[in-house]
Formats: sequence, structure tokens, C-alpha cells
Amino acid sequence: MTDATDRELVIRDLRVAPAAKPEREILQGINLTIRKGETHAIMGPNGSGKTTLSYALMGHPAYVVKGGEVIWKGRNLLELSADKRARLGLFLAFQYPTAIPGLSVASFVRSALNAKLQGIDKNPDVDPTDPTRGGVSMLEFRKRMRAKMALLKMEDSFATRYVNEGFSGGEKKRLEMLQMAMLEPEFAILDETDSGLDIDALRIVAEGVNAQLNPNMGVLLITHYQRLLNYITPDVVHVLAAGRIVTSGGKDLALRLEEEGYGPILRENGLEAAVSDDDLAVPQAPEAAGAGR
Ligand SMILES: Nc1ncnc2c1ncn2[C@@H]1O[C@H](COP(=O)(O)OP(=O)(O)OP(=O)(O)O)[C@@H](O)[C@H]1O
Ligand SMILES: [Mg+2]
Repeated sequence: MTDATDRELVIRDLRVAPAAKPEREILQGINLTIRKGETHAIMGPNGSGKTTLSYALMGHPAYVVKGGEVIWKGRNLLELSADKRARLGLFLAFQYPTAIPGLSVASFVRSALNAKLQGIDKNPDVDPTDPTRGGVSMLEFRKRMRAKMALLKMEDSFATRYVNEGFSGGEKKRLEMLQMAMLEPEFAILDETDSGLDIDALRIVAEGVNAQLNPNMGVLLITHYQRLLNYITPDVVHVLAAGRIVTSGGKDLALRLEEEGYGPILRENGLEAAVSDDDLAVPQAPEAAGAGR
């Protein structure tokens, strides 16, 4: 049986601080509902808490939840460990993926896939290594890896390299997308997957994401650049600033931000204190201006 709550992720009044500085609330009451089949983009100035939001949703131990709830599949995600959240279909593509020397890409992805196949309650009847008991055979795994790597235009040799060791910035982002393609999440958070990609790589990655979009997956796309939204069309664009979603709109909101910078929109929403006159004199952040090159 499915009802509406099986098809959406609901964030209510989420308040989060870094564990290292628990008195500093970075997220001060986030409210957001994202349904499966929808793509929501979050934009916001550097340091506004976008990565904090993605880590809090995924259960990163360096952040403490001070209040609120995140409901997904009838459970409050905030009460679950990160691995359980992943088993429930959540996926995070990191802004800064870390290297794991000694662990090959293929072993890493296979372990993650196997862990996920057992489900949240670690179903003892499922043996991920046994194709007759719900597992994926080595042959099937290799076939799938090859297909997804082709989709992302990755060379076969990537499978045997160590996770992110010596990878270029763009290669790291592609590996995040390969993991997503293999794990087939029901809710994917992409934290600046477009940053560090050259123009061709951006298109390949965006096409890879688009190929995965389906009515059973919700997407939260964190980006600074409207350019990515030319490839992946968001249903809603949110602006995060001063610990809150200050406004939401359609794709035109992203275009407006690119043109005007954050100043005017923050002012309209009563955040003039956060905007200096300098920002208004030069509406485009240097970073946004650089994006057009
Ligand atoms: N462990 C920590 N200790 C102290 N401050 C932290 C910690 N983690 C995050 N912060 C602070 O929280 C704020 C939000 O950081 P966050 O990484 O979420 O921003 P962001 O919106 O993702 O920025 P960017 O666009 O640059 O990626 C920053 O001011 C950051 O310095
Ligand atoms: Mg960030």
C-alpha cells in the first residue's frame, strides 16, 4: 500500500549546528517538502549552510540536530544512522569527495550495493553474494558497472583504481555520479556536483543525472550556477540564506540570481542586514561572473 507519505521527503523546522560549535545554529528552521519525481534546486551564498543541510539529511556525525524532523517512508530519518538512511534509499553526492587509498572503485561500489540489497532490517534471507537469494552475481555487477561507466564516459580502468586517489576534480564528481547510477537511490542529494567540471564534463554528468530521473526518485540539487539548470530543469528553486529558505520560485529565480546577485532578493525578504552596499554596487559575485567565461 502506498500513500502520499511514501512519496515525499518532508523537512520540518530543521535546526542544525556543527558539533565543534554546537551553540552556532547554521540551519535555523528549514521547511521543505520534496516529492518523488521532483527536482528541487537550492542556491545560496557561500557559507549559508547548503552542505550542512545535505550532511544533516545524510547523518554526518560532525553536525548536531538541535530540532525538527525529517520524515521519509514513515520514519524520522534524524533518528537513524547514516547507513540506515542509505538503506532507505537516500544518497549524497559529496561536494568534496574523499580518497580511500587501498580500496578499489569496483569493491567499494559492490560493498555499498550489497549492503543496500539487504534492506534496513538486514533481511537474513537475502544473501547479496548469492544471486539465487536476492544478490547480484559478479557477472551481472560487471555488466552494470560497464553500462553505467559508458553512460558517464568513464574509462574501464577507473573500476580498478583506488577510490578518488589521484582523481582530478572532475573525475571525483563523475565517480559520485557512478555511485548514484549503481545504487539507484530514491532520494538523491547532489552537493555542487557541477563545480570543477569542464563544459563537456558538465554536459556528460548532467545527461547522466537526467538519464536517472524517474517518478520514483526525488532530487535535491545544490548549485551556485544557473548553467547546470539549463541541463537539469528544476521544478522549484529555493534560496537558502541566514539559516532559512528565504524564497522559492521557478527556474526564472535562478536566472534572476545570476543577473542580480543575492543582494536584491535578500533585501526583498527582509535580510538587508546581511547585504552590504558593496554587494549592491557590484551585484554579481566574482564567482558568478567567472561562471560565464
Ligand atoms: N565543523 C564546523 N565547525 C565550525 N563551523 C562550521 C563547521 N561546519 C560548518 N561550519 C560553518 O557553517 C557555515 C555553513 O557551512 P556550509 O559548508 O554548510 O556552507 P555552504 O552553503 O555549503 O557553502 P559553499 O557554497 O561554500 O559550499 C559556514 O560558516 C561554516 O564555516
Ligand atoms: Mg557547500
